[in-house]
Amino acid sequence: MSTVPARIGVVLVAAGKGSRMGDVDKQTALLGGEPVISHSLKVFESYEDVGAVVLVMSVDNVEAGRRVVRDGSFSKVVDVVIGGDRRQDSVKIGMNVLATRPEGVPEFVLIHDGARPFVDSEMLTRGLSAAQKLGAAIAAVPVIDTIKIAPHKVVTSTPERSGMWAVQTPQIFRFDVLKIAHEIVTDDATDDASMVEQVGGLVGIFDGSYDNIKITTPSDLELASLILGRRKAELNGIGGSEGTGGQAQSGSRFGIGFDGHRLAEGGPLRLGGTDIEFDHHLEGHSDGDVLLHAVASAILGAAGLGDLGSRFPSSDASLVNIDSARFVAESARLAGEVGWLVDHLDATIIAQRPRLASFVPRMVTEIGMIEGLENASINVKITSTDHAGAIGAGEGIAAQAVATLIRAT
Ligand code: CTP
Ligand code: MG
Repeated sequence: MSTVPARIGVVLVAAGKGSRMGDVDKQTALLGGEPVISHSLKVFESYEDVGAVVLVMSVDNVEAGRRVVRDGSFSKVVDVVIGGDRRQDSVKIGMNVLATRPEGVPEFVLIHDGARPFVDSEMLTRGLSAAQKLGAAIAAVPVIDTIKIAPHKVVTSTPERSGMWAVQTPQIFRFDVLKIAHEIVTDDATDDASMVEQVGGLVGIFDGSYDNIKITTPSDLELASLILGRRKAELNGIGGSEGTGGQAQSGSRFGIGFDGHRLAEGGPLRLGGTDIEFDHHLEGHSDGDVLLHAVASAILGAAGLGDLGSRFPSSDASLVNIDSARFVAESARLAGEVGWLVDHLDATIIAQRPRLASFVPRMVTEIGMIEGLENASINVKITSTDHAGAIGAGEGIAAQAVATLIRAT
């Protein structure tokens, strides 16, 4: 047992405005059901050489950041602080927290963008070993595209591509090396390494990865969810050339789902995640939304994961009155874990009353907004039984659905 501080202190910067992302806060947006920053926090939490982690958030998302730390029980996060106007100001604020920790200043500081959820422990190991040699090391990948210099949209030169690297984070530094660079360089800097370069320090490169994208625009979040699906499938041994995992190797699968519930006095009627004005509602342990139940059941079926009842037993008191969107989200998440993404949903609601056609667009939107389904195409249809049978007599409403899942790889 030693009392020396752990070797690496982490500053996770997530205090930007995310202006290219639109209205969504990219740092706390859900990716695979978890906030973007929690993917990196998990990696740091389980990496032995990391001691303290400082999370730097903006005024607007600091509370959300604290919640992420609480919900994820990230015990290494020593502080969640508010950053500065420029990225380098946010880094400096985070480093100041590390510099004043009771356990002492760490040997290395690791700077990582909150917007890069795909750092992994192998990358940290490569980075630490490179930083030990030169005092500073940054994750990077060889540039794939040909680069042109064209200051006025007219090409002036084509630099030799070999030897060019696209730079990412993590960037790892001996603590004092980066501290001094931040004290001397006050002009705008594009990254921390460039500040070290400016003061004459050596900066090494270690392999990042092409997966290690920075979420900048909404389409990056879509890309990230595909990358996550593939990585999870790889972890589960699916999609490799060995074809392990007991899953079919074909590109798509279908699943069918059905559910029916009784109608009882009193509205509103909850269907497709939508409250519909009506004098009856569907009885049920959850919110009774038969359409979402049929959809969730179809997804589980296609992924070969059994049925809704055994996944979400009615004996589970925490599920009373629950929003059935949770069942769909959880089913899609479980399917993702075994390497399948929802590509298409087709559903039919079978109801005599009320008239539902005008609510279909809303239901489609609601279903599409459920985490894990944002990329699926969705079709909802309505039919009656022409007054035949129990449904025709208005005793209940049923729904059926077919889900098409595609391989995440
Ligand atoms: N960052 C920060 N403090 C700032 C600016 C940026 O902590 N004042 C962080 C961002 O939160 C992000 C990382 O630095 O995790 C990389 O920055 P970038 O991708 O440019 O994110 P934003 O600045 O938030 O996005 P945009 O430039 O589109 O506004
Ligand atoms: Mg920015």
